[in-house]
Amino acid sequence: MKIALLGFGTVGKGTYELSLLRSEHGIEVTRVFVRRDHKRVLDLQTYDINDIISDPSIDTVVEVMGGDEPAFSYVKAALRAKKNVVTANKLMLSLHYEELISLARENGVHIAFSAAVGGGIPFLASLLRVGRVDTVDSLGGIMNGTTNYILTAMQQEGADFVETLKKAQQMGYAEADPTADIDGLDVRAKLALSVDVAFGKMADPAAVPALGIRHISAEDVAIFKQLGLICRLIGKAERTVKGAAAYVEPALFGQDVPEAGVNGTGNVISYRCRRLGMQNFFGLGAGMNPTASAVMHDLIDISLGFSAFDLAACKGSFVPDAAESVHGYYLRTDAPVPAGFVSRTLGETAEGTAYITTTLSVEAMHAFVNETLAKGGKAFAAALA
Ligand code: HSE
Repeated sequence: MKIALLGFGTVGKGTYELSLLRSEHGIEVTRVFVRRDHKRVLDLQTYDINDIISDPSIDTVVEVMGGDEPAFSYVKAALRAKKNVVTANKLMLSLHYEELISLARENGVHIAFSAAVGGGIPFLASLLRVGRVDTVDSLGGIMNGTTNYILTAMQQEGADFVETLKKAQQMGYAEADPTADIDGLDVRAKLALSVDVAFGKMADPAAVPALGIRHISAEDVAIFKQLGLICRLIGKAERTVKGAAAYVEPALFGQDVPEAGVNGTGNVISYRCRRLGMQNFFGLGAGMNPTASAVMHDLIDISLGFSAFDLAACKGSFVPDAAESVHGYYLRTDAPVPAGFVSRTLGETAEGTAYITTTLSVEAMHAFVNETLAKGGKAFAAALA
């Protein structure tokens, strides 16, 4: 099968190398699209997307550029030209899921995206399979390797936030713009895409409230240690009558749950079904080799004439809602706290007072943190899981 790569960053390079290393599968990269500012790295390189779209010898396009545009336009053009698409692009998929699935079906080609959630973990394909015989009621977990790497280093080594983020970027874990990782937007896209796959309807990612880890302090982490808790960034979604409740936020876990034992770039993503109960998927959620492995699996499946993603028919869309999701929080802020928020005051830190809150809605806590930060105040919140 002749394929073209769109993008030659960490995942593109990894896929190219893996296709050579495991050449017995007959996956041959014959063209690589790169942007004009990219230096010449390969003879296969082109700056003109039409060299790929109009080349009838190319069966399948692997989109590993990331971002919404121009990736979305290129993927649409490839599908219309009756080329299969394999993509790791969770942002693009979460924004245009319905349209992309329809376009692939109308043109009789495959679109597959194992690498879009969980890096090398076979989570999405399993989620699709389980939906054939069971009903998924909830899903979520640790879905971002970069933030887990940072939180682990802060917890285990007392490492500095900014330095550890730089290391994650150098290792190829972080997004091109790491804001997406640390502000929870990468998890938001992965969560919305997982909801699309699980519930067969498109969830609007912009409606999923997201708090990240940008404002966590070393003193917060020291308090968590004293309490015997470990902080992780999580995404969570639950089926509701209207569609789904979904949100992204830091959360605190006791030592005896799977999330606490997942360190470094590890992810643990789970779903709970009516008959099957809960299934947990552990593994490396970011980096060249895990992500390229997932891309290669999709390519090999397609070359064999099938794709785990062919079941992904999408019937309409809905707006996720977290208004009725409630729990207690760790909150540290220098702003006055609304009446009824505080259950216990933990003490003073250099960046405000630390509290355990009463049971609050996700909506109320996210609104408080966002408003405090917007006014120039300090605030960090983590759910008591
Ligand atoms: N930046 C992402 C992460 C890459 O750290 O998980 C994998 O999606």
